[in-house]
Parts: sequence; structure tokens; C-alpha cells
Amino acid sequence: MTRKGIILAGGSGTRLYPVTIGVSKQILPIYDKPMIYYPISVLMLAGIREIAVVTTPQDAEQFRRALGDGSRWGLSLSYLVQPRPEGLAQAYTIAEGFLDGAPSAMILGDNIFFGHGLPDILRAADRRAAGGTIFGYRVADPERYGVIDYDTAGAVRAIVEKPARAPSPFAVTGLYFLDATAPERARAVRPSARGELEIVSLLESYLADGALTVETMGRGFAWLDTGTHGSLLDAGNFVRTLSERQGQQVGCPEEIAFLNGWITEDDLAAQARDHAKSDYGTYLMGLIERAASD
Ligand code: DAU
Repeated sequence: MTRKGIILAGGSGTRLYPVTIGVSKQILPIYDKPMIYYPISVLMLAGIREIAVVTTPQDAEQFRRALGDGSRWGLSLSYLVQPRPEGLAQAYTIAEGFLDGAPSAMILGDNIFFGHGLPDILRAADRRAAGGTIFGYRVADPERYGVIDYDTAGAVRAIVEKPARAPSPFAVTGLYFLDATAPERARAVRPSARGELEIVSLLESYLADGALTVETMGRGFAWLDTGTHGSLLDAGNFVRTLSERQGQQVGCPEEIAFLNGWITEDDLAAQARDHAKSDYGTYLMGLIERAASD
């Protein structure tokens, strides 16, 4: 069965108050586009076209307005509501009907990935039909994340959420390729000491069955944090630096849809005209000219 995508874009956003009192965190700009464009682009690079956005009751409308039904990017987007932020693993029980027995790739709506070869590692994870695949990434402050605990032979022994002392510098990124058993496994997860249905408990269930592949994203990749005002600004500056230097966008769904052959040149031109007054529109128009000269 074809893999479906989930973007988890709920949460209370209180760590970014007062900015997120009136607007969802995942709609905030990362330089020149809404944050959620970046995780959508990652799922598109993995070849995924059917995606559910899980949001809060009050923010669902905002996302619908920002993204629509996805058809302009050759996608099918639907919206599901998480009544309260009771944990990442809950996304799988909320999305159970949407998944309808399909394997999934879930990405957190505030996670930004960039790197040469990203499509290849995504496609490889997609091809692994059984079990789960997650990605470890070396960070200077692993205690803030889910952390991978390796044994002396280098095998994964456990995954621990925000440990006081991190067993390794490898954080678990917010991108999870799980097989069709994820909703059933998620239903068996019990709330942790902090009262959440933890994603690491779900991952531990795969690990216990010997069904979890942990890939490492090397130093050539950027996995950016957007959890604080400072890191949000840094992520925006990172995107600006790269895209201005290269004259190429980071996380542009229109471009990926076009290159994947999911939309036509006419579709792209129509969207470029819609964005005509912004640099983004100029970029989209440039893509058509570039395709003609290639
Ligand atoms: O970013 C990767 C990390 O994400 C992982 O390393 C951790 O294992 C994982 O627990 C998670 O940690 P965070 O501390 O970043 O989780 P946070 O509570 O901030 O939630 C991540 C995003 O998901 C955030 O944008 C809000 C959203 N969210 C969160 C919860 C708990 C929801 O949409 N619903 C929820 O119930």
C-alpha cells in the first residue's frame, strides 16, 4: 500500500508566547514562507501525496486557508483535529481512519531538514515496508530531545525522552516512517510521568520487536530547531543565506510538485501569477524559464 503522510501541527505553542497567542507556531514564517511548507516539502520529496495535517480545534481553519486541499501542489491534503496536546503518539490514533491500513511517514510541523541526498534517504526509508525507520542526528544539547541509547556494540538499546543525562549525542529527529501497525501500537501506549502519550514509547514498541531501523543523518545535513525565538530567527537566516547564495529555494512545494511531474507547466505558471508581487512568484516564473532552457 502507498505510504501516507501525517504532519503534526498542533501543540500549545506556549514556548513562543506572545507570538503564538494569535497564530499557530507552524504558520510562522521561516524567512519567506510558512514553517509548514518545509515539512510538507520533505514528505513530497519522499514521494508522498496523500497527507493529513493534525492541528488544534482553533487552528484548523488557519491551515485550511494557508494550504487548501493540496491540489495546487498535486497533493490531497486533509485536516484532522487533536482536541488537546496529549502527546505525539496520539497522532496515530487520530489518523487511524485516514491511514486506513497504510504505512505512514509522520513529520513534526516545526522540524526543518536540509541536505544533499535527502530525497535518497527518504525514498530508502519509504521502500522499507515492514517496521519503522527513524533518524538520529548529532546535537550539542541532546537532553532537549528524544535520545538514542547505543550499547557498546553500537546496537540501539533504548530511546529515552529528554533524559537528565543523555546516553549519546544523537537526538531522534521529528520524522518517523512507521508501518501499518503504528495506530494499533499507539493505542497500547500509556501516558508517561508528564502525562503525555510519548512517541518514544511507540518507538520502543518497534524496538522491542526488533523492527526499528535507526539511520544517522550525517553532518552534511541540517536539522534545524524552531523551539525558541532565537532558533526561529536562526532557521530563517539559514534559509535566507542558502537561497540567496544559490538562487534556489529551500522547501518550495510548487517546485517539488513540478519536478515530480505532479503539476504541469501551466499549473506552475498560474501559481507564479498568483504570487506575482513577491520574490517567491518571480522564482516560480524562473523555474519555467529554467525548464525551457534545460
Ligand atoms: O523535534 C524532535 C523531538 O520532538 C523529538 O526528539 C522528541 O522525542 C519528541 O518528543 C519531540 O520533542 P519536543 O519537545 O519537540 O516535543 P513538543 O512537545 O515540543 O512537540 C513537538 C511538536 O508537536 C510541537 O510543534 C507541537 C506538536 N504537538 C505536540 C504535542 C505534545 C502536537 O501537535 N500535539 C501534541 O500533543
